[in-house]
Amino acid sequence: MTALFDPFDLKGLNLPNRIVMAPLTRCRAGAGDVPLPISATYYRQRASAGLIIAEGTNITAKSCAFEKAPGIYSEAQVEGWRQVADAVHAEGGHIFMQLWHCGRVGADAILNGEPPLGPSEVNDDLDALQVYGQMANGRYARLAATPARAMTLAEIQETIADYAQGAANAIRAGLDGVEIHAANGYLPHQFLSPGTNQRSDHYGGSMENRLRFLREVVEAVVAKVGANRVGVRISPFAGYNNSRDTDPAATTTAVAKLLEGYGLAYLHLADTNAWAGSPDMPQLLAATKPHFSGSLIGNGAITPEAAQDYVAAGTFDMVAFGRPFLANPDLPARIRQGGPFNDPRAVGWYGGSEEGYTDYPALG
Ligand SMILES: Cc1cc2nc3c(=O)[nH]c(=O)nc-3n(C[C@H](O)[C@H](O)[C@H](O)COP(=O)(O)O)c2cc1C
Repeated sequence: MTALFDPFDLKGLNLPNRIVMAPLTRCRAGAGDVPLPISATYYRQRASAGLIIAEGTNITAKSCAFEKAPGIYSEAQVEGWRQVADAVHAEGGHIFMQLWHCGRVGADAILNGEPPLGPSEVNDDLDALQVYGQMANGRYARLAATPARAMTLAEIQETIADYAQGAANAIRAGLDGVEIHAANGYLPHQFLSPGTNQRSDHYGGSMENRLRFLREVVEAVVAKVGANRVGVRISPFAGYNNSRDTDPAATTTAVAKLLEGYGLAYLHLADTNAWAGSPDMPQLLAATKPHFSGSLIGNGAITPEAAQDYVAAGTFDMVAFGRPFLANPDLPARIRQGGPFNDPRAVGWYGGSEEGYTDYPALG
């Protein structure tokens, strides 16, 4: 029987356990969206995860839903990330970077005065979009999203190239791989969902057309860094950012079939609605499992006991924990001995400094 603490061979990367740190946006970057030494400390504290998937990281200055999220499109950002990767590797850990384009989710105030760019001009639900900025007094607060503009075909090509360059930059910075963020109502998810993709060209309409953007991003990133170093995170059922997919099971299956062919490092199933108390994992699994034979990561309000059961049953190869890792830097050690677990405090989830970030205690 496979156990959570059995090692896992992630395409040649020898993970000491199957406990993954889920990507968590924490908004601690400095000027120019460069990761600061405090982020190297934060990730080093969590390096006992089998794999860390670092927070959503913008691939271009044209993407921002959370001010102070880091980027991976400038040399200074590459150098900042190098310090993070080095810190994690010094502890024997492994780290992927989540490549993020927020698409229509944004506000001109944090996009250099420009409108957010999405597949279409779907702007009837701006109050449902999660956009945050840092106020002059340092407080982090929700901002009103501003209307998105539809990407031109040239902008779509430019964005695909940004994903590939972001991946190359992440590897150059020393990270072990990248995760394409195709979940939670961000750009690739916006292309997948007919609720947010109303294009009449070959990127919209049929399932094949709605899959095209993700397919081209995956192919561009794989061509740049190799399939072994690429994972994809999806959450077609998620209500977050009002993605409004009318048939999320069909989308999940189509994505699983698409990704089956590339030999990727993994597919990451995020049950985002479980966070709000209404899990979709059975439907997600039913729509994925018959069509995808590669490594699977599961996430979304999964307890350590359930994680063990999932791994033992072969349902998932690895399980990702979000909030538990936010609050417990040494989560694997705590799971191994059955607790105790720190609860996440309300302070410092997004923005700020040490408080609620690097000050959660490890076991004595
Ligand atoms: C503070 C915070 C930041 C998050 N940032 C991201 C992110 O950058 N990318 C992403 O895909 N999910 C993000 N999520 C979602 C988590 O990865 C995860 O799916 C969610 O917390 C549910 O898992 P859990 O129940 O183990 O916490 C975030 C969640 C939290 C609480």
